Amino acid sequence: MSARGITLTRHIMTKRETTLPQRDLALIMERIEFVAKRISRELTIASLGGETGFTGQTNVQGEQVKKLDEWGNDVFLEAFEHGHPVCSLISEEMDEPRHYPGSCKGESYCVLYDPIDGSSNTDVNGSLGTIFAVKKRNAGHGNGIHDLLTAGTEQAVAGYIAYGPATQIVYTAGSGVDIFSLDPSLGEFILWRENVKMPPHGSVYATNQGNIGKWHPNARAYIDRITSRKDKRTSYSLRYCGAFANDFHRFLLEGGVYVYPGEVVEGGKTKGKLRLMYETAPLAMVAEQAGGRASTGKGRILEVRPAAIHDRHPVYIGSADEVRLAEEMKVEG
Ligand code: F6P
Repeated sequence: MSARGITLTRHIMTKRETTLPQRDLALIMERIEFVAKRISRELTIASLGGETGFTGQTNVQGEQVKKLDEWGNDVFLEAFEHGHPVCSLISEEMDEPRHYPGSCKGESYCVLYDPIDGSSNTDVNGSLGTIFAVKKRNAGHGNGIHDLLTAGTEQAVAGYIAYGPATQIVYTAGSGVDIFSLDPSLGEFILWRENVKMPPHGSVYATNQGNIGKWHPNARAYIDRITSRKDKRTSYSLRYCGAFANDFHRFLLEGGVYVYPGEVVEGGKTKGKLRLMYETAPLAMVAEQAGGRASTGKGRILEVRPAAIHDRHPVYIGSADEVRLAEEMKVEG
């Protein structure tokens, strides 16, 4: 059979090693596919229907909520309302987790997500993504979240959806990274690349360089170093689209590094912007599964244990060589 005939569900059912039972993985990914199709369809017409712009509300992080953020969150809530075996959701757009006690029988899971990643792009027809992860819940957890405040190494599944010229689902369930493209005429995600490997170094970096004045001096030195143009290894180009998953997607396929350094605060410490549980930890799992690396600048992102669901950290993620260099240069305070 040519790869054109392999749908996401079929691929899961024939995959040998996964972190959770195949049936559970298939049920959860079927819901993620449904979310991807709904959001993808909506994005093509959202501006015509007046669904872009702000709601007038601010979220738990003090950011202005875009109409599409709120709508994207509702798409997840609806998809998982009857989403057995998923019984909890943690979202960038909700202060507290949402629980579906009816789905908490036997093995159960929590899906953590950022429904619309890169929301500053919603009003300009720019790149957007969705980031997700799945964690197993402990038996008897009730509505508590203690069992979920674990390091990213405990993620069973992680991935993202990139809405570009093609809508793609990129995910890992612990045995490599696979990419599926939506064929809108069939309404199916079809295997595009299997067991993707990230090149060990690249020639492109992504960052919001306008923030450079707020960074630790060593983070500034890092960017100076990779752009000093002394040789091939110090001659990087900048590409930044303002959507984490979409910038990362380039580096997964072609190598390079995405950095969002922390802002220096009192005592010389640095404070990051990106959220650990539903932004950086999921992409860190994808990066590592593809042979790349993901760091807070001080250590492996996947080993950071959150104190709260909306915790933030600096991030350096992509090809192993570039991320290792950032750690060696002690880029964070
Ligand atoms: O919070 C997530 C995010 O929107 C990322 O998707 C993106 O890379 C980054 O923040 C953009 O931040 P800024 O607007 O500061 O460049």
